[in-house]
Amino acid sequence: MGIDQTTERAPRLGLRRDGLDPAPEVTALREADGTCPVTTLVGHAATLVAGFADARTVHGDPAFGFEGLPLPPGELDADEMVRRRAGMLLALDPPHHTRLRRMLTGRFTVRAMKELEPRIVTIVDDALDAMEKAGSPADLVADFALPVPSLVICELLGVPYADRDGFQERAALTLRSDLPFARRAQVITESRAYMATLVERARRDPGDDLIGMLVREHGDRPAADGGIDDDELAGLANLLLVAGHETTSNVIALGTLELLRDPVQMAATRAALDDDAALGRVVEELLRHVSPVSAGFPRVAAHDVVVGTHEFPAGSLVTASLCAANRDPALGEGLDHLDVRRTPIPHVAFGYGIHHCLGAPLARVELRIAFRALLRRFPDLALVDGPLEYRHENLIHGVEALPVRWATP
Ligand code: HEM
Repeated sequence: MGIDQTTERAPRLGLRRDGLDPAPEVTALREADGTCPVTTLVGHAATLVAGFADARTVHGDPAFGFEGLPLPPGELDADEMVRRRAGMLLALDPPHHTRLRRMLTGRFTVRAMKELEPRIVTIVDDALDAMEKAGSPADLVADFALPVPSLVICELLGVPYADRDGFQERAALTLRSDLPFARRAQVITESRAYMATLVERARRDPGDDLIGMLVREHGDRPAADGGIDDDELAGLANLLLVAGHETTSNVIALGTLELLRDPVQMAATRAALDDDAALGRVVEELLRHVSPVSAGFPRVAAHDVVVGTHEFPAGSLVTASLCAANRDPALGEGLDHLDVRRTPIPHVAFGYGIHHCLGAPLARVELRIAFRALLRRFPDLALVDGPLEYRHENLIHGVEALPVRWATP
């Protein structure tokens, strides 16, 4: 079964509407163990799978990769495409992917994140100070959910936060599925050019940040010897910048929204704030429920491959609905509902396999610190009534703004 295939254009990847639920068609698909046609961000036809086991297969089976994806429409030739993919982990297969990812894993371990915690606490507290000082009501997205992860990833990478207006806008545009391909390609080129200036600066004077570390430790070696060139560095840093703020920010905003709408869940979350392990479980449930990356990046089958009950011939483009997979009844009952008291169940909010989110340990720490500080600071935080604008046309699901209020002292 599938979504109405008579429409001129198959639905775009996100497949969410208002709220957090996957579109009803996607849920129906999962229950019927079906697939449906979708359109990728660059306009190619692909097939969507919606079950948890199928999502893991699409992300975990080496039969599916990125480098054999057809060229996007337009003037690009294969060489230009290779250049554009340089450093983009989410566009690379082994061995390039393995080489670049290996350079970074040590920087994103749980232990490394532990060392970052005090700085993240300060960033979170500063944002809350400013929000409190400006007074109720506030927009939780603009005043807290976006600036916190954005500033953290900037400091980690060595990107000047003062440049945020430019790169935040470009990051948001890159992820919009309703933008014509040519416009998105232009935005990506601009983002890479911006990063290239930071790489050049690091070449002259490498700092203690991630870009500086990559230049110092890998910048003068050939790829065969575990090195990275400047094009790759710009692509990698750009990916980290984009991946590092929109995602976490939407879990903060949408997670807070869900908690504010449900006093039982809010009370259970507040009861967990003093206990790192309990709060960690709350965060896992919020990640599962919110699933800000609605669908994984499309992959292409290198040869004929079977996913669950579906057969995909070589060359098929396949993508997985991560938000639907995370509510698969095969994982447990009542998964359409948020229940922060449940024993965490496995989820694919961070993907799965070799491309499993590199920043997951960082995101988990940021989310714990952000929810703890926000809820402690404002014991009576509440939603301001009014319609919410969801970002449907985005691979990453979120709200444009989240007006909140609290009683001023
Ligand atoms: C990959 C989700 C935060 C960096 C991914 C993927 C998902 C994901 C689903 C895999 C996509 C696919 O395979 O198609 C999330 C969520 C986050 C989050 C839900 C926050 C709650 C971060 C942060 C960083 C980051 C903070 C920055 C350090 C990356 C990178 C990849 C990735 C570099 C590509 C990894 C690879 O290809 O090997 N993320 N992410 N993410 N994420 Fe995250």
